[in-house]
Amino acid sequence: MQISSFISALPKAELHLHIEGTFEPELMLYIADRNGIDLQFDSVDSLRAAYNFSNLQDFLDIYYQGMNVLLTEEDFYDLTLAYIERVGAQAVRHVEIFFDPQAHTARGIVFKTVIDGIWRALETAREKFDISSNLILCFLRHLDEADAIATLHEALPYRDRITAVGLDSSESGHPPSKFERVFALAREAGFYCVAHAGEEGPPDYVVEALDLLKVSRIDHGNRALEDHALTRRLAKEKIPMTVCPLSNHKLCVVKDLDDHPLPTMLEAGLMVTLNSDDPAFFGGYINENFQVMKDHFDLSNEVLGSIARNSFLASFMSGERRSLLLDELDAYMAGST
Ligand code: ADE
Ligand code: ZN
Repeated sequence: MQISSFISALPKAELHLHIEGTFEPELMLYIADRNGIDLQFDSVDSLRAAYNFSNLQDFLDIYYQGMNVLLTEEDFYDLTLAYIERVGAQAVRHVEIFFDPQAHTARGIVFKTVIDGIWRALETAREKFDISSNLILCFLRHLDEADAIATLHEALPYRDRITAVGLDSSESGHPPSKFERVFALAREAGFYCVAHAGEEGPPDYVVEALDLLKVSRIDHGNRALEDHALTRRLAKEKIPMTVCPLSNHKLCVVKDLDDHPLPTMLEAGLMVTLNSDDPAFFGGYINENFQVMKDHFDLSNEVLGSIARNSFLASFMSGERRSLLLDELDAYMAGST
């Protein structure tokens, strides 16, 4: 995909990114080999050929299978650094990264191995690429409350490395209300909260995420548009929405990118950001997501710039870092008109 020069150099933050979803087939095969694991797929092409999904669950089945080859701290380091190198070349200045500890601890990989590997790569990101970051621990919603609470307790010794908790995995049948108490404990421990809601689930799940989990952002949120009162509320309260167009298309949340709700969201005054979700599986990183929306809806540079601005405003970065990056964006916009 040809990325416009404006998008290529536009300073931006990525706020909806599952680190396990950045596992490119080449690296997956390399790490599988390094760890002596038989992946069942023997080539990059056979892996990519399997990336044909009818819904979220179809994708999750492959996503969890792929991450089984991650065993050591070095594996998590290599995975995270590969993502940082990719987005360092896409003018990404700050990232808020989801990780799924339960998908690893359930396989006998200890929490420390996972977070030490990711953290070391994020230190490299700061030092070598001047990319700042925050980590968001996601609870897997298909598992029960007790498992989530145990995971929160495992995370507490790493409190200084984790900024927020989130909620991901199979949405249908697993409403935010199932995790009300875990999120209350997380807030008491000082974490910000976010949740996937309204990707496949109904608008009521978005309301529950706001009212019961007290989230600062909604991840996806597409189906909120079915409820006009909710849409007005999201706009009025300026709740950021982390929208992921290529993901929505690959997971059949929208049939065609022309049907994507981004223009409706913008018209409704929602605070939209654009993100890649699981870029290795969905055919593009953040700039490809900006570009497809520009191409399909003829978005102006001014609108694209305002979406980038939202990404800095909606992030959990420090006030000092936010001012610096907003200044950088202002200078970029002034220089490109
Ligand atoms: N885990 C990784 N990607 C996800 C998505 N798009 N929705 C829910 N859980 C996920
Ligand atoms: Zn996601």
